[in-house]
Amino acid sequence: MAMLSTSLSGPKSATSYCAPEFSGLRRLCPNSNNVNGNSHSQSFLLFCSPRKPLKSVVAMAGTGTFFVGGNWKCNGTKESITKLVSDLNSAKLESDVDVVVAPPFVYIDQVKSSLNGRIEIAAQNSWVSKGGAFTGEISVEQLKDTGCKWVILGHSERRHVIGEDNQFIGKKAVYALGQGLGVIACIGELLEEREAGKTFDVCYQQLKAFADAVPTWDNIVIAYEPVWAIGTGVVATPVQAQEVHVAVRDWLKNNVSAEVASKTRIIYGGSVNGGNCAELAKQEDIDGFLVGGASLKGPEFATIVNSVTTKKVAA
Ligand code: PGA
Repeated sequence: MAMLSTSLSGPKSATSYCAPEFSGLRRLCPNSNNVNGNSHSQSFLLFCSPRKPLKSVVAMAGTGTFFVGGNWKCNGTKESITKLVSDLNSAKLESDVDVVVAPPFVYIDQVKSSLNGRIEIAAQNSWVSKGGAFTGEISVEQLKDTGCKWVILGHSERRHVIGEDNQFIGKKAVYALGQGLGVIACIGELLEEREAGKTFDVCYQQLKAFADAVPTWDNIVIAYEPVWAIGTGVVATPVQAQEVHVAVRDWLKNNVSAEVASKTRIIYGGSVNGGNCAELAKQEDIDGFLVGGASLKGPEFATIVNSVTTKKVAA
């Protein structure tokens, strides 16, 4: 499994940082004054790790249900999607996982009418307001009309290839939520940002744009997807992913509420596959996955969905 060796190099004051109190399995830590960001480092997990060996517990810091999304991106034909749906329909999926797939817009109807009800449909994008004279766009109303329950917003390919910025993405989230769609809100740093020690800053800015915009977090799943891991085969190590997930949960606790921090699913994306999902899923703050390439293969996607079982065994 290819993994990036680059680690976070932010914060210099690791010893002053300690993950604050949470619900779930996280241990209380009294030294939680320094809460707003720039105090994490690769070493803080070692310094004040709340992860004691636990026996026969569900190793999950958050309280939300495990969530796995398949982002099919701009892939597939009627024929290949027929096969993929058939594989998904016959897959045995653990019951305690929310599962969604995001087909290309033009195949949503095909997927909706052929996929069994176990899996919900997400769109890969939505327009920022009510539909109308917006050539090439798809409105939230149209997505709902075709049976979508979710939309992926802020994906790195929309940010960095198409050029969407934080504020625009925040507005899209508000509109989609207001119309009743769930939002898979993507955040994540570029390689150069990680190497410059800016991982947390970038993620917090992206989170803040969502937080400033949305009235509620009830229907939001956060996807942490380091850009250097997307579609590259270079997956974050479990420690690298967990480190950012803890930071994201802490940010929510300190900037939104403890309840939102506990309830909001924080899923990891970036070169997740059938071989690496189990180790990632064991991490307490990884509440699921957003999967690109590997979601195009039904049996492998099922393996990723079922990695929830690794959370249930002794840590
Ligand atoms: P990948 O894509 O699994 O192919 O890296 C993940 C994503 O972009 O959501």
